[in-house]
Amino acid sequence: SFEVQLASSGKVIPVAGGQTVLQALSAAGVEIEFACEQGVCGTCLTRVLQGVPEHKDNYLTPEEQAANDQFLPCCSRAKTARLVLDL
Ligand code: FES
Repeated sequence: SFEVQLASSGKVIPVAGGQTVLQALSAAGVEIEFACEQGVCGTCLTRVLQGVPEHKDNYLTPEEQAANDQFLPCCSRAKTARLVLDL
């Protein structure tokens, strides 16, 4: 498991193993737009300010994934203990 932090408020939200980042955000009252929940449509695209995402989507190009400055929270996770999100 890992946690995400909201850049705007500083709030830290834990993401459990069986939970997506999107679900963890929603459970914490942070609603972001989504559609496919399968990493295909790009609707949930969120900027990453710190930390390294573990990309599991089929939307970003390999180059975009390697930049590690955005990710798809409906399916992707984290390689670092915390991701700071531009939310
Ligand atoms: Fe479609 Fe996340 S909701 S990529």
